[in-house]
Amino acid sequence: MAPKLLYLSALALLAGPVFSQQIIVPPHSYPGETTNTQWISGPDDFDAPKNRPINQTTFDWWYFDAVQEPNERGEQASFAITFHTSGPHGFDTLQDLFPLGSPSDNLIQINLAWPNGDLDFWILAAGEAVFTINGNSASAVFAGTGCSFEGVPDLSHYSVHIDAPDKGIVGSLDIKSDVPAHYPCGPAEEGQDMHVVPGVGWLNAIPDGLGEADFQIRGKEFKFQGRGYHDHNYGSRPFSESAASAYWGHGRLGEYAIVWLSVLTPTGSEHVSAYVTKNSEIIVAHCEGIKIRPYGDNSTYPPTRKTGAPTGFRIEITIPEGQLELAAEYIYIQVGFDFYRRFTGTFTGTLNGEPLPDGVALWEQFSLN
Ligand SMILES: *[C@@H]1O[C@H](CO)[C@@H](O)[C@H](O)[C@H]1NC(C)=O
Ligand SMILES: *[C@@H]1O[C@H](CO)[C@@H](O)[C@H](O)[C@H]1NC(C)=O
Repeated sequence: MAPKLLYLSALALLAGPVFSQQIIVPPHSYPGETTNTQWISGPDDFDAPKNRPINQTTFDWWYFDAVQEPNERGEQASFAITFHTSGPHGFDTLQDLFPLGSPSDNLIQINLAWPNGDLDFWILAAGEAVFTINGNSASAVFAGTGCSFEGVPDLSHYSVHIDAPDKGIVGSLDIKSDVPAHYPCGPAEEGQDMHVVPGVGWLNAIPDGLGEADFQIRGKEFKFQGRGYHDHNYGSRPFSESAASAYWGHGRLGEYAIVWLSVLTPTGSEHVSAYVTKNSEIIVAHCEGIKIRPYGDNSTYPPTRKTGAPTGFRIEITIPEGQLELAAEYIYIQVGFDFYRRFTGTFTGTLNGEPLPDGVALWEQFSLN
């Protein structure tokens, strides 16, 4: 008995006081099981899968990015990776890219822009996805892809690892948080409603932090530091039944970190979320008091599949100190489908008319109609 007891106590020591739990998502969901979708936040399970088990129409995705400050030549590298566990009709806008059916419910999407604007992308299909929940964080290994991510229990640090030399990409993305986590309508506290719109939930573990990408792409170094970000979306029904268009982005200028979100439902009701920190303290985290509209070329609102890429977005946020008027203008389009675009560029603006330091942002537009 003694060796076994020793082993148990050694494990307990290693695991510390934090309870960890494993969840396995097979590569194909099985109809017939009852899914529980979580909409109200719990005390200590922030980034855990929200659909258990997944079914034909649910989706969860864990998204990570980093974006570099533009250099003096206006060049800017960026990197983004998304880990999906989605039933075949869950995140339908992605799954429709597979006319013969998606090879797995567990998909990984990687997109990057080189400093000169050249693009690379990968879509990898995994076997089972094994999640470990540790405090508020989630970690996951997507079998057969060489891809995994790992979070620490207090959400202060996430890292993503890619070991896919046969696909031409090996390396890691590290994100160290500078600001507190939040939900669409408030801070990361128990009892928050996680809905963005009916059918879609959102939680943002790292709204802004130091992002460090360090990869070898087909043997060539792809390495930069910039602003990093991590969030998690999920839903109970096909994404396109919940959203017709959406704008989201994150950026930093001076001492302010910002996350913006606006979603139009198929029936035309607009739902928003505004998050602002100053010197790493939350000054705004709620689902009101923000307006996000495209400007310049292709600024039709609401956007459709036929609308091209807008020059930029104006973001107006009411904060306790007054009015933030911000503009995100693109340098590169990292992802350029008609129904989905992801941009990186400059972030400029004023507070009560007084200019703020120039900054950097990364943002996206869904236009599903
Ligand atoms: C999947 O589960 C959700 C529970 O949130 C349910 O609303 C939905 O109808 C289920 N989908 C299918 C195809 O059973
Ligand atoms: C506006 O859309 C058109 C058509 O898609 C495109 O050629 C043009 O580059 C877009 N403008 C900007 C600023 O991207």
